[in-house]
Amino acid sequence: MTRDRPTTADEPPALDPELAARLDALFEEGRAWWHRFDAEVRQDAWHPFVAAEYGSVLTALMSLRRPGRRFLEWGSGTGVITIMADLLDFDSCGIELDSSLVDVARDFATQWHSNARFAAGSFLPMGWEWRNARGDGRPGTIGDGPSGYLQLGRALDEFDVVYGFPWMGEEPLMLDLMRSHGRDDAILMIHTPQDETKIYQGGRRV
Ligand SMILES: C[S@@+](CC[C@H](N)C(=O)[O-])C[C@H]1O[C@@H](n2cnc3c(N)ncnc32)[C@H](O)[C@@H]1O
Repeated sequence: MTRDRPTTADEPPALDPELAARLDALFEEGRAWWHRFDAEVRQDAWHPFVAAEYGSVLTALMSLRRPGRRFLEWGSGTGVITIMADLLDFDSCGIELDSSLVDVARDFATQWHSNARFAAGSFLPMGWEWRNARGDGRPGTIGDGPSGYLQLGRALDEFDVVYGFPWMGEEPLMLDLMRSHGRDDAILMIHTPQDETKIYQGGRRV
């Protein structure tokens, strides 16, 4: 985590030490929760929730940090990243299909005095269907459910920064969803299983 280091004009300012310590504690709790979930739930039945490498997401988010920017996490799991964005002064929301994970996220938000908001539902807008270049419309591990945007009172094109951690092969769906329903100048952050967090704008990496 970046802290107390001189910055250049191109670099975002270092994190305030108190906030850095809060984020460290949030990440630690999020990782501990994920390890328990992996051992107790995922051992018996496959589940799509895998936690990202939070430090990598933080570094990418720091470079996009502007107070009041609207942030959305697609498939927010336990909400750690949505809460992180709120603590970094984004206006922050998450949508997650598994309502039991949404309950955990809301408890975490209360515990961390965060205003992050969560909807239980799908990040796929109602009626939206995807086909890849070969015409295959199978969504991979991305599940089906009522769209979560109505609960948030916001459409996808009202967000400035959108984040997702797709399973292998699902990144094109996320890019296409952003292209068809996101705002033209909005930013898409994609986390990868290699713990990289890529930043796209207008469909191109920046
Ligand atoms: C790989 S996990 C990523 C968790 C978290 N975003 C992170 O980066 O640590 C993907 C999450 O997306 C959720 N999910 C799958 N399909 C979804 C959908 N259509 N709408 C909302 N969430 C979905 C899963 O339940 C899972 O929690």
